[in-house]
Amino acid sequence: MSWIKEGELSLWERFCANIIKAGPMPKHIAFIMDGNRRYAKKCQVERQEGHSQGFNKLAETLRWCLNLGILEVTVYAFSIENFKRSKSEVDGLMDLARQKFSRLMEEQCFLNVCFAYTSRHEISNAVREMAWGVEQGLLDPSDISESLLDKCLYTNRSPHPDILIRTSGEVRLSDFLLWQTSHSCLVFQPVLWPEYTFWNLFEAILQFQMNHSVLQKARDMYAEERKRQQLERDQATVTEQLLQEGLQASGDAQLRRTRLHKLSARREERVQGFLQALELKRADWLARLGTASA
Ligand code: FPP
Ligand code: MG
Repeated sequence: MSWIKEGELSLWERFCANIIKAGPMPKHIAFIMDGNRRYAKKCQVERQEGHSQGFNKLAETLRWCLNLGILEVTVYAFSIENFKRSKSEVDGLMDLARQKFSRLMEEQCFLNVCFAYTSRHEISNAVREMAWGVEQGLLDPSDISESLLDKCLYTNRSPHPDILIRTSGEVRLSDFLLWQTSHSCLVFQPVLWPEYTFWNLFEAILQFQMNHSVLQKARDMYAEERKRQQLERDQATVTEQLLQEGLQASGDAQLRRTRLHKLSARREERVQGFLQALELKRADWLARLGTASA
């Protein structure tokens, strides 16, 4: 039996899903699935049972997302900080991951699992990768930009989440997707993760819809600002080049346009070369990791 594909929404859930789908829908939702141990305590079951119920809830939530047409989900399954928990709990979570991961991968490809992850670690790693690119002569220091850093994150193939949901009443991000959620709708819900319902998800989407125009405007303004800053930097570089060549910086508009165009085409070429090299480096690292753990 499939964990995710099987099981339809109830008639009432389907009815409400169709209404909500008339508004702007999120394409990508991120979850901090918090409250498994409090749930276990509340229900007087073993801690591991709380995590196991948490996993079942993840499978159910993915099914709701699929039914709602939300095709990308990212979850915080295990933070680097979680290694500080007791050995028996860490071992239990690792066992759960081992049992469930491979089957999850067979089911659906729209789930990103952040395991042994923190956002600050991800961002500093991206900075190290760019420094490596400069060291290797693949990048020019002037190529370093927010947009390049974005492409060096583990999430580079996904759009940034539209909604970040944290359950269990905790109102902090705990070092999860800090870069990617700067223009996301943050939803903190009191429900413990294993008790999460379709209606909790529904409420989160409603909050997103109510804030959609403000969020969209902020995203657009940010993208515009990034473009404007890059253009300003390029114009300053061209001015400097022309002055060094003894030409008048403000003179020939056509010449300035050609130089600007060349500058950005060369940067794009370097960036593409660097990203390809980075992908190979990462694939090589993964292959060596696989060999070492085999
Ligand atoms: C937070 O609850 C949950 C975790 C640290 C683990 C999350 C893992 C799962 C939901 C299942 C495993 C998922 C996969 C993909 C294998 P908590 O332990 O912090 O509970 P508390 O906040 O009540 O203390
Ligand atoms: Mg917790």
